[in-house]
Amino acid sequence: MKNITIVGAGTMGHSLAQVFAQGGYPVVLTDIKEETLSAALGLIAANLKTLSDLGLAGGADLSETLGRIQTTTELPVAAATADLIVEAIVENPEAKKKLFSDLDRMSPPHTILASNTSFLDIYQFVETKRPHKVLIAHWFAPPHIIPLVEIVPGPQTDAETVSAVKTMLEGLGKQTIVLKKFLPGFIVNRLQSALTREVLFLLENGYADPQDIDKAAKAGFGIRIPILGLVQRMDFTGLDLMKDILKNSEKRSQIIDDLVAQGRLGVKSGRGFYDYTGRPVEEVLRDRDLKLLKLREFLKELGEL
Ligand SMILES: NC(=O)c1ccc[n+]([C@@H]2O[C@H](COP(=O)([O-])OP(=O)(O)OC[C@H]3O[C@@H](n4cnc5c(N)ncnc54)[C@H](O)[C@@H]3O)[C@@H](O)[C@H]2O)c1
Repeated sequence: MKNITIVGAGTMGHSLAQVFAQGGYPVVLTDIKEETLSAALGLIAANLKTLSDLGLAGGADLSETLGRIQTTTELPVAAATADLIVEAIVENPEAKKKLFSDLDRMSPPHTILASNTSFLDIYQFVETKRPHKVLIAHWFAPPHIIPLVEIVPGPQTDAETVSAVKTMLEGLGKQTIVLKKFLPGFIVNRLQSALTREVLFLLENGYADPQDIDKAAKAGFGIRIPILGLVQRMDFTGLDLMKDILKNSEKRSQIIDDLVAQGRLGVKSGRGFYDYTGRPVEEVLRDRDLKLLKLREFLKELGEL
């Protein structure tokens, strides 16, 4: 894949164009609004300057990167020579359905069509003659900074398409997850939605004010996430304790019950969700603590703690 087209130049689209241009690909950025396209170029230039100020532009010449991005409001022009088209238009099924039909007609048969939808099951309504070349590749704002892209194949997406997109994204320095099948919100937005639901519950029922909730997130559980994630964190807590905590709130989890029954209690027993065998508990804890301490001090330096 060589030529990239990004459709939609808003919050996501401008930054997506930047990522591919920084990776050396010629990019066509298209939108229905001319003013959005000129604003997008201004935003990309500002983003590149920020990266460059921090020495993170990877030695790329900024004007060369910008020079790889062409803009047009003409969809047929944008689609005609694309090998990969990334759709980042409004989160509206009718708009996406129409766009995919247009792109299917206007782009060469080999072109891969990727949607950046956050929640929509595009496989239920998008109609093309190339369903094996259609997939969801879900980025996070701002795409030129956040490493992850979730790839969600549809029932007809072929393995070759998934592997081509995955290889390309990893070549751009991205981390990828390939979901086994479609599920609204994928992984990240589901986790975020669960948290948002609780945040709104706490606020709306007068349990805490916004500042306290954000303090709880940053100084409490949030600081552990970059080091332990969400699953491994339970290994450190102890899965037997997790089981008791669930029991006390009249809940249970099959996976926790099974692991506890097998004696897999987490770090303290050498195995939990992860395998720590051969590593003394002290070493596993020290490794965690060194990273947590470095992160804590760094966040203090940033004024976030
Ligand atoms: N904003 C986020 O944080 C975020 C994160 C991940 C995924 N997404 C998804 O990315 C997509 C875009 O989101 P956004 O926040 O960038 O939206 P946005 O509203 O900022 O940008 C959408 C752009 O698409 C243009 N557009 C609308 N219809 C078009 C068409 N038919 N052809 C060409 N351009 C068209 C609009 O003019 C607008 O500039 C959505 O599907 C959204 O769910 C957004």
